[in-house]
Amino acid sequence: KKVVLAYSGGLDTSVILRWLQERYGCEVVTFTADLGQGEELGPARAKAEAMGVREIFVEDLREKFVKDFVFPMFRANALYEGQYLLGTSIARPLISQRQIEIAEAVGADAVAHGATGKGNDQVRFELAYYALKPDIRVIAPWREWELTSRTKLLEFAERHQIPITRDKRGEAPFSVDANLLHSSSEGKILEDPAHGPDEIVFQRTLSPEAAPDVATEITIDFRHGDPVAINGEALSPAALLTKLNALGRANGIGRLDMVENRFVGMKSRGIYETPGGTILLAAHRAIETITLDREAAHLKDSIMPRYAEVIYNGLWFSPERHMMQALIDASQHSVNGRVRLKLYKGNVICIGRESPDSLYDSRVVTFEEDGGAYDHKDAQGFIRLNALRLRLGAMKGRRGGAL
Ligand code: ARG
Ligand code: SIN
Repeated sequence: KKVVLAYSGGLDTSVILRWLQERYGCEVVTFTADLGQGEELGPARAKAEAMGVREIFVEDLREKFVKDFVFPMFRANALYEGQYLLGTSIARPLISQRQIEIAEAVGADAVAHGATGKGNDQVRFELAYYALKPDIRVIAPWREWELTSRTKLLEFAERHQIPITRDKRGEAPFSVDANLLHSSSEGKILEDPAHGPDEIVFQRTLSPEAAPDVATEITIDFRHGDPVAINGEALSPAALLTKLNALGRANGIGRLDMVENRFVGMKSRGIYETPGGTILLAAHRAIETITLDREAAHLKDSIMPRYAEVIYNGLWFSPERHMMQALIDASQHSVNGRVRLKLYKGNVICIGRESPDSLYDSRVVTFEEDGGAYDHKDAQGFIRLNALRLRLGAMKGRRGGAL
């Protein structure tokens, strides 16, 4: 009887809005979130009003997005398949969560989203819905409707007086998803992985070639694993990421062209721009180098690919994510201090790190006289015991570690 739609205000979700009203004869409630995608949200409200929507939710979720989703994920240094900073993946659980909260508040029994039946996003939205409200009804128009071609969709829009901007009449050249962490572009003209992207694909970074010939130096301060200040200036999570994005943009940082494995099975090619996130990852790794114990660092690193995969696959609200998050968060208590970085033509170069909680001890590591901080003789027994099984093997004819 009532459905909460994740509504961007764009053509596709406007068509979905009208289709839900028509097909299901139900009351549609719209929810539009500002996650820093850089679009005016006013028009989304006006369009929903024009389509007779009575309950319209437009919310600025940027701070919550960065504080409760982006930063926890960056504590893990998460990268999917070694490269992807998960900019789209990490936004979906927040949208789903608010959608469910709104459904409960307005007494809706269903939720709907505009993701296609081929991608990851449908999985992410819906796994989160079900984890938060097991009896929710989910409507995924792209998997149900008869508007199976662009032409049919445009006809439907025309028939229902849904405004079509001119760039939408001709097909958009690729599909974009954006938020404060990243922009992703995929599909259409980008579908051939043998061909590099044209410069017009990029929306939030200068090319490294166009970036300044002099490096920009910055510092980032961390507290318990989260960045809290840039150049000594304390900033809120969203303000800090916004500032890093500006620094990254100007220096051509954070472009990625990759082919990834979608959860639903196919390979897909994406162009990503994650300027601030790319700086943040390098900085966080740098501060961890001096503040984390070796085994703590190696242990969290060993679960990172798994953690990234869980987020990519849409399992933010799952026991395994909570367990891994607890392990990662526990490691961050002493991850405090300052990192100095050079930003230069697409590169993020660490040139200094310092911390009150540093484990780096120059007295121990120095090649000069260490005044008894370290006993070289300890190393002799250490090596002999580690060599014992190798020697036993070699004595049995299994030289060099042969099996
Ligand atoms: N391939 C990326 C991911 O799965 C980006 C998806 C972009 N989504 C979109 N609706 N355009 O996270
Ligand atoms: C979509 O299918 O809606 C976008 C691509 C994806 O979710 O992977």
